[in-house]
Amino acid sequence: MCEIVFIDSAGRETHVVAQDGETVMAAAVRSGIDGIVAQCGGALACGTCHCYVEQPYLDLLPPPSEEEAAMIEFVMEPAPNSRLSCQIVARSVVDGMRVIVPDNQH
Ligand code: FES
Repeated sequence: MCEIVFIDSAGRETHVVAQDGETVMAAAVRSGIDGIVAQCGGALACGTCHCYVEQPYLDLLPPPSEEEAAMIEFVMEPAPNSRLSCQIVARSVVDGMRVIVPDNQH
């Protein structure tokens, strides 16, 4: 288990406990986090699970696959710390990870 802190555009924080093996997207959807739409259900086909991962957590994650990196080019307002939350699997190294949820996914 690990805790993930989702932060909205107003700076409000929601703390969610993710199970081992669960993706950050699944934990967000299960917890009703607004802004993580995840239209494709994690199939790496929509980009609507886009989020920004704060440091130092970003550097602790495995780098994005070629497919994830390509999809990030099509999200709204991509940034160097953009990731697709459906591709991040919760594990102990990201305990306490802070994730900023974009205002808009479309
Ligand atoms: S849920 Fe569609 S790309 Fe992540």
